[in-house]
Amino acid sequence: MTNGAQPRIQWLGRWGFILAATGSAVGLGNIWKFPYITGEYGGGAFVLVYLLCIMAVGVPVMMTEIAFGRRGRGSPVDAIRRVVNESGGSRGWSLLGWMAMLCGFMVLSFYVVVAGWSFSYLWKTLVGGLSGSSVDDMAAIFAANNASPLNLGLWSTLVTVVTMLIVGKGVQAGIEKSVSWMMPGMVLMLAVLIVYGVFSGGFGDAMRFLFSFNVGSLSSEGMLAALGQAFFTLSLASGAILTYGSYLPQSASIGRTALSVALADTVVALMAGMAIFPVIFANGMNPSSGPGLIFMSLPLAFQAMPFGTLFGFLFFLMLSMAALTSSVSMIEATVSWLTDNKGMSRTKASWLAGSVLWLVSTLAMLSFNIGGDWTLAGKHFFDWLDYLTSRWMMPLGGLGMVLLAGFVLNEQSFRDELGLSRFWYMVWLFMVRYVSPLGIGLVFVDALGLVSLQIHSHWPWLLLGLIAITLLGEWVRPRLRLLP
Ligand code: TRP
Repeated sequence: MTNGAQPRIQWLGRWGFILAATGSAVGLGNIWKFPYITGEYGGGAFVLVYLLCIMAVGVPVMMTEIAFGRRGRGSPVDAIRRVVNESGGSRGWSLLGWMAMLCGFMVLSFYVVVAGWSFSYLWKTLVGGLSGSSVDDMAAIFAANNASPLNLGLWSTLVTVVTMLIVGKGVQAGIEKSVSWMMPGMVLMLAVLIVYGVFSGGFGDAMRFLFSFNVGSLSSEGMLAALGQAFFTLSLASGAILTYGSYLPQSASIGRTALSVALADTVVALMAGMAIFPVIFANGMNPSSGPGLIFMSLPLAFQAMPFGTLFGFLFFLMLSMAALTSSVSMIEATVSWLTDNKGMSRTKASWLAGSVLWLVSTLAMLSFNIGGDWTLAGKHFFDWLDYLTSRWMMPLGGLGMVLLAGFVLNEQSFRDELGLSRFWYMVWLFMVRYVSPLGIGLVFVDALGLVSLQIHSHWPWLLLGLIAITLLGEWVRPRLRLLP
């Protein structure tokens, strides 16, 4: 290899990367976040735009990230620097790596709080703390759980410690092993809930809510949220997938791998929607009740079904595990950077990163109790972490990476790395040069209020614009020398 990348430890099994990346992708984003933002943005239209974003932006960005990781064999900062160096580009591009690492860290700071909810509900199913007969009772339980900083802090601290323990040991064996039985278990639990939902009386409403695709009703805010969710749920632009890619053996196919991960992730998200909304409609709950949505709806379903306590226990166990395999991936980039550059042992790097994480996540946790009115522009700290990362940092980081891969790097470097057939390589190039950047760009321009997109009526113009810009771009590109 010519870019200075060193040989690196690799995944153990053939499935190692797919399992670990799926473990990273499938998490609270699928089961907690997807249903509640779908509820907030009104259902079907949001789901459609989200699926578009996964295919048109998510998969190409994921392939690009894996390729950066595998070619550069390092943390995001080092890998991007090496790959750019190989093409003679500017060192400044490694800023993208810094932003990604920071983004992963910021996500984890609020993620451990939500994972803490899941852990505490797991505990409650054991000690019988989840009985109540109405949505209001459940909302009260959720509120009471949040009200004490000591209680909530205990759970998020537990999540932080467990995450750092796993990362400190080295992720390979731990993650590879746990994901292989956890994923099937999760899908099985969701299937049980869906079957229950079919008989609950709310199933028809739920399916209509999720799959009646009338795009006209989607706000700009909703489009930005759909794009952000696509990035969040695939763990993109935050160092996780890139760092996991740096452990990927040379023989694996990047395209097939990325597609499998995206597909598995999408299936779990849609199943979660189909499990949760029937309960919500059958109990007359409001689908837009925000981050507490699954914690207030599902316990009601568990109570009403046979063996509910057992299923509830298994469900929150799976959810907690899914959260852990994701949280591990978010801090892996930082830990890998610390060990590669600062000569720290893995254990030491994990505890250092974990201590900083603990401080920031404690601040995020306080948003639900004593810090409830420490707000800025109407959002408290927890919301700010979520908003800044998924709405801005991830899409911008993804945009930077596709532009870098599409226009700045030597064509040969990614061509070798991706190992695609000529046809699929061209498709990938078209996606990273035009489709993804224009998609991300449009959503931003729309969100800033510069234009107002109506996909259902503007799509012919959008398509024409895409073709025109592609032709223009391909004409201008060889005439412009982007590299020295
Ligand atoms: N994708 C995970 C989920 O859906 C969350 C996650 C893991 C993540 N790693 C990430 C989100 C990195 C952003 C960045 O729950």
